[in-house]
Amino acid sequence: MKIPNISKEDVLNAFQYRHACKEFDTSKKVSEEDINFILKTGNLSPSSFGFEPWHFVVVQDEELRELLKPVAWGAPLKLDTASHFVLGLSMKAPMTKWDSDYIMHMMEDVKQFPKDVIEMYSKFYREFQERDFDLDTEKKLFDWASKQTYIALANMMTSAALVGIDSCPIEGFHQVKTEAVLQEKFGIDTTKYGLSYMVAFGYRKAEPPHAKSRRDFSEIITWK
Ligand SMILES: Cc1cc2nc3c(=O)[nH]c(=O)nc-3n(C[C@H](O)[C@H](O)[C@H](O)COP(=O)(O)O)c2cc1C
Repeated sequence: MKIPNISKEDVLNAFQYRHACKEFDTSKKVSEEDINFILKTGNLSPSSFGFEPWHFVVVQDEELRELLKPVAWGAPLKLDTASHFVLGLSMKAPMTKWDSDYIMHMMEDVKQFPKDVIEMYSKFYREFQERDFDLDTEKKLFDWASKQTYIALANMMTSAALVGIDSCPIEGFHQVKTEAVLQEKFGIDTTKYGLSYMVAFGYRKAEPPHAKSRRDFSEIITWK
């Protein structure tokens, strides 16, 4: 495998370039190759025990986008203008509990662990969920999966910025109402998946209205 050799200047430039883009240029579409590149960096993101508790729905159908507007106050302008509009779903308890069919599928089919490794891994995973992280409610399990799905979000937005593509993360939606729409109109089984965020990709219509503001290092970093 090739050792990455991107300059720090280019990486930092991408971080400066990325901003929460409010409106996209509708005349410019993200190519299929580029959106697949972005999704691939989500796919390659780290996850607890490597169990990838996420699913991404790319909403290109205009009628489906319309259905999201009444339940997602933070999204209408992005739904109208984004080249690609992605829903970041996280798995709920029936998928992520240590003894679920999905976890067994991950260990047997995806990771192709031998039987003895599966037994050991299951034991660790169970202890982690029940003892170490106290994941004893459906809400806690969903929030834990969500934390991981946000790592994929960050990676996708950064990789997009690295190739000059804009994005906007969106939590401006009513979770219960939006999940009802996803269940009824998108064919998503919301007993298994919940919506963590939406994220829009495209090309900016205008430059950001103001420069990035961030706290000083002295406020956010402590060295001991
Ligand atoms: C989890 C999360 C949710 C967000 N939700 C929204 C949103 O619903 N609508 C929106 O326009 N921006 C949203 N933002 C963008 C933030 O407002 C923005 O990232 C922040 O103000 C910093 O600005 P910058 O991203 O341009 O550097 C969200 C950001 C994050 C990380």
